[in-house]
Amino acid sequence: MQNNPSKKRTSRCPKEKPATLRELARQHEQRLAAIEQKLGLCYNELKELNYAHLLHDGMRESSWVKNQTFDLHNWAANYSFIYLLFRILDKIEPQNILEFGLGQTTKLTTQYIAYKNPEAYLNVCEHSRDWIKIYQQELPEHEHIHINHLDLEYFEYRCKRNDKYAGLLELVEDQKFDLIIVDGPVGGGKNLPRSNVVDLIDNGNLAEDFVIIFDDAERVGEKNTIRKVQEALRKKAIALQTFERFGIKRQAYIVSMNRAFASFL
Ligand SMILES: C[S@@+](CC[C@H](N)C(=O)[O-])C[C@H]1O[C@@H](n2cnc3c(N)ncnc32)[C@H](O)[C@@H]1O
Repeated sequence: MQNNPSKKRTSRCPKEKPATLRELARQHEQRLAAIEQKLGLCYNELKELNYAHLLHDGMRESSWVKNQTFDLHNWAANYSFIYLLFRILDKIEPQNILEFGLGQTTKLTTQYIAYKNPEAYLNVCEHSRDWIKIYQQELPEHEHIHINHLDLEYFEYRCKRNDKYAGLLELVEDQKFDLIIVDGPVGGGKNLPRSNVVDLIDNGNLAEDFVIIFDDAERVGEKNTIRKVQEALRKKAIALQTFERFGIKRQAYIVSMNRAFASFL
């Protein structure tokens, strides 16, 4: 039997309302934002791979990086960080280094003292005794290398608990540092992490020519600390330049004017 085309079919399902133009545009925008985010992550991965190649090429002829095995993943420094740290140590040759957060970066800074510039000094600050125990055996020993265990102290900043190394100013006394590496204590989720560096500037522990490196500069908390450092320097009328590098993580560099060439290394 043939259907009568003039007879209308009736459905028991409720009819879906057609999306308004505004809704369609919103969905489209969301999809585009998700794609943009993924592209951004891919770009960071590509940059990371490029820094890995640069590091391997750059270190191949190095006479002082004897142990070239780095485990650059998880919480550790990434390739963009280690590459520029290597270049800064190699070309700028700092004399007095202060490093917050023991780990992969320390594999490089200790070799710098032991095999490239034995006249220079290195102080590393670390809050975890277990972490020191794990790492210290991998590091070269030298009378100018000091791995310091410091407890953490806590303070509140804008309704959030933050921590920093306790007793740092007593440890460093009136030393002046020309390289400060800010990668500890653990920073994520805090709104003023790793703020010992601000105290150091207020206390006059910065050399005339300096480089300060901040890891995790993409995070909101670290951005706050970086801003505080810039303010502290401006308050002392110290001229500065800031630049950034990134792979899968981002580093910010604050340097004195006569170290501005570090951005080309
Ligand atoms: C962000 S890590 C970086 C340390 C170092 N600059 C590096 O390149 O590896 C900062 C602190 O996290 C802690 N830490 C690092 N990796 C860890 C891990 N896998 N498990 C537990 N704590 C870790 C250590 O106390 C360290 O001082």
